Amino acid sequence: MEPKFMLLMVALMTIATASADYVRPKPRKILDFPWESKHSSQPQQVHISLAGDQHMRVTWIADGKSSPSIVEYGTSPGKYNRIAQGESTSYDYLLYSSGKIHHTVIGPLEHNTVYFYRCGKQGPEFQLKTPPSEFPVTFTVAGDLGQTGWTKSTLDHIDLCTYDVHLLPGDLSYADYIQSRWDTFGELVQPLASARPWMVTEGNHEKENILILEDGFQSYNARWKMPYEESGSSSNLYYSFDVAGAHLIMLGSYTDYDEYSEQYSWLKADLLKVDRKRTPWLLVLFHVPWYNSNKAHRGEGDHMMQAMEPLLYAAGVDIVLAGHVHAYERSKRVYGGRSDSCGAVHVTVGDGGNREGLASKYINPQPEWSVFREASFGHAELKIVNSTHALWSWHRNDDDEPVRSDEVWITSLVSSGCLADKRPELRKILLAP
Ligand SMILES: *[C@@H]1O[C@H](CO)[C@@H](O)[C@H](O)[C@H]1NC(C)=O
Repeated sequence: MEPKFMLLMVALMTIATASADYVRPKPRKILDFPWESKHSSQPQQVHISLAGDQHMRVTWIADGKSSPSIVEYGTSPGKYNRIAQGESTSYDYLLYSSGKIHHTVIGPLEHNTVYFYRCGKQGPEFQLKTPPSEFPVTFTVAGDLGQTGWTKSTLDHIDLCTYDVHLLPGDLSYADYIQSRWDTFGELVQPLASARPWMVTEGNHEKENILILEDGFQSYNARWKMPYEESGSSSNLYYSFDVAGAHLIMLGSYTDYDEYSEQYSWLKADLLKVDRKRTPWLLVLFHVPWYNSNKAHRGEGDHMMQAMEPLLYAAGVDIVLAGHVHAYERSKRVYGGRSDSCGAVHVTVGDGGNREGLASKYINPQPEWSVFREASFGHAELKIVNSTHALWSWHRNDDDEPVRSDEVWITSLVSSGCLADKRPELRKILLAP
C-alpha cells in the first residue's frame, strides 16, 4: 500500500472506534442512488441561501469547462429579465475531484415573491420564494439529515408544510470522506433547497479532515457557502442573517470558541449590533447541544457553553437550536444549567434521519429544565407570529405532517425585564474588551 493510503486507513479506523459509544436502534436503509451521468454541463444539486439584505445566493454544480456562473431570473416563468454573474470553485480530496461549483448572488429581490430562474444558461427552470419582510415568518428545522429512507421521509414532511426558510444545525450529507455522497446529497435535497433558502451550520460530519492529508471542511465550505462575508465574519463556519423580524446567528461547534478566538470576538460584535426594535427575535444555532439529557454525547457541549453562554444570556437570546444527538428534546428557559426566565429555550432537533439511527437512552430522573424528550425522527417548525409570540412545534415522521407531537407558544424576551437596557450589568459583559 502507498503510504498515503496506509495513513488514510489508520485515520478511518481511529474514527470508527471513537464513535462506538452507544447502540442506536433501527436505522433505515441508505438510499440507493442510480448515479445517472447527465450531460456534464447540466446544472445539478441546485440550492439557495440568503446572502445579505434582499439577496439570494444560488449554488449549483455543472461540470462543463465552459459552463458560466450565470443565473437568469425573473418573476414570470420563462421570462428572465435579469441576469447575475457569479464565481466558481472546485476542490480535490484524495482521489476525488469535484465538479465546478458555482455561486451566484441574485438581487435585490422583492420580499415574499416567487422568482423563476435558470442556472448556467441551460437546463430546467427552478423557482424560489423569498421570505417576507414582516411577521409572520415560518422556519423549519432538522439537523443530522444524511440520506436514508428516514431522510426522505423528513424531507417529504417538510415539503408539505408552508415555510420560508429551512434551518439545519449541522450534519448534512454523512458523506464521511466519500465525496460522491456529497453529490448524491445535493441531488436528494435539490427539490426543497432550490425553492427555499437552506441556512446551515457545520457538524462533526462536515469536518472530514485527515491528518497530514486533508484539511477540515473542504467539501462543506466549497459546496455550502453561507453569508459569512455579508455578516462580517471571516469564516464560513459562523455567520448571521436577518429574516423578517428575526436575527439568527449560526455558530460553529467545531472551530475555536474560547474568549480569545475570532469566533468569540465576532459573536460579541454581532450581538452588540442587534437592534431588538428591528429584529425583536434573537435565535442561535449550532451543532452540539448545551442542554442534553440523552445518554448520547453527554457533556460534549460543556466547553462551548462555558465560553459563550454568558454572552447569549447578556444579549437576551430567545431560542437556541442544536442537533448532534439523534433525538428531540426541548427545555424551559435556562441559564447556567438550571431554569431561568431570562435564559433561552434550548431545543435539540438532531433527528433528521441519518444512517446512524436514533439515540433513545435518557438519563433519569429527567432534569428539571427538560420539558419534552423523545427519540423519533422528524422535523420542527417555528412560526413567529409577531414581535412577542411564536408557535413552536415538532412533527414526527411516524405521523402525518399536521400532527404536532410537541407544541408550545414561546414569548420573546423583547418585552421582558431581561434585556440589557434594563440590566446594565449584562451590557458590561457584551462591552468587555
Ligand atoms: C401576537 O400574537 C399573539 C398570538 O396570536 C396574540 O395573542 C397577541 O395579541 C399578538 N400581539 C400583538 C401585539 O399583536
